[in-house]
Amino acid sequence: MFTSDLLKNKRFLVTGGGTGIGRALAERFLQLGASGYICGRRVEVVQKTAAELLASTGGVLEAFACDVRYDEDVEKVIEQIWAAGPLDILVNNAAGNFLAKTETLSTHAFSSVIGIVLNGTINMTLACGRRWLAAKHPGMVLNIATTYADTGSAYVVPSAVAKAGVVALTRSLAVEWGGRGIRFVAIAPGAIRTEGAFSRLLP
Ligand code: HXC
Ligand code: NAP
Repeated sequence: MFTSDLLKNKRFLVTGGGTGIGRALAERFLQLGASGYICGRRVEVVQKTAAELLASTGGVLEAFACDVRYDEDVEKVIEQIWAAGPLDILVNNAAGNFLAKTETLSTHAFSSVIGIVLNGTINMTLACGRRWLAAKHPGMVLNIATTYADTGSAYVVPSAVAKAGVVALTRSLAVEWGGRGIRFVAIAPGAIRTEGAFSRLLP
């Protein structure tokens, strides 16, 4: 469907790109001629994935350890990336989730998931967005939502509220920054049998 050079000269970052859907997105971007970066908390996972995708696609991919919850971590990684040139595509894919009865959850359980999904998306989007706007460089942000972001969902409430926030952020900034060349897109995948999701949601 796409020509193999569709993303030639485009530079991307996929958060949580060491596993699952993020890894698959990074692989496809490389196949379409882009070069880029993946990040996650576990450095050994992202480095192994980068080595495997380099070997299978022949593309250019670097891996960073980064916890998207912490804006100092995010700033450091984005600064390092920008030193080699601006990104064109940011994919906010990193997420945390688990199945639980909401009345059993601690404040930390809520803040852990909301920190990854919502604050992580905000941190990355602002770090890239400020740089794109200052340089008048076009940018594209792809946020990974869920089908229950609009409906809510029992037993995954921290994730549901965080993903609803991600969708609100996407819609809001599409308007606020769209006219200045920053495009926002969100996709809500159906159930996809990744180890990360299914080990936690169908334990
Ligand atoms: C209740 C839980 C819990 C569980 C953790 N906690 N798991 N509470 N039930 N199953 C609580 C802990 O007790 C702790 O609170 C707090 O949450 C933080 O837990 P930690 O283990 O210290 O946090 P951390 O190591 O940062 O791990 C974050 C995580 C973990 C979200 C808990 O699951 C993770 O690392 N996930 C990353 C990958 C992931 O979740 N992938 C799936 C995405 S799938 P206390 O109070 O005890 O300190 C997805 C699909 C959606 O989003 C759509 C499907 C259709
Ligand atoms: P996954 O393999 O568990 O992916 C989550 C990734 O996020 C992991 O690589 C994880 O790596 C990374 N991550 C978690 N916390 C992080 C943090 N604080 N900082 C940086 N990276 C972090 O699960 P997946 O199924 O591919 O999910 C990918 C995306 O799709 C998520 O946004 C999820 O909500 C969404 N989604 C999935 C499904 C599904 O059915 N699979 C359905 C709808 C939406 P580390 O642990 O090394 O940090």
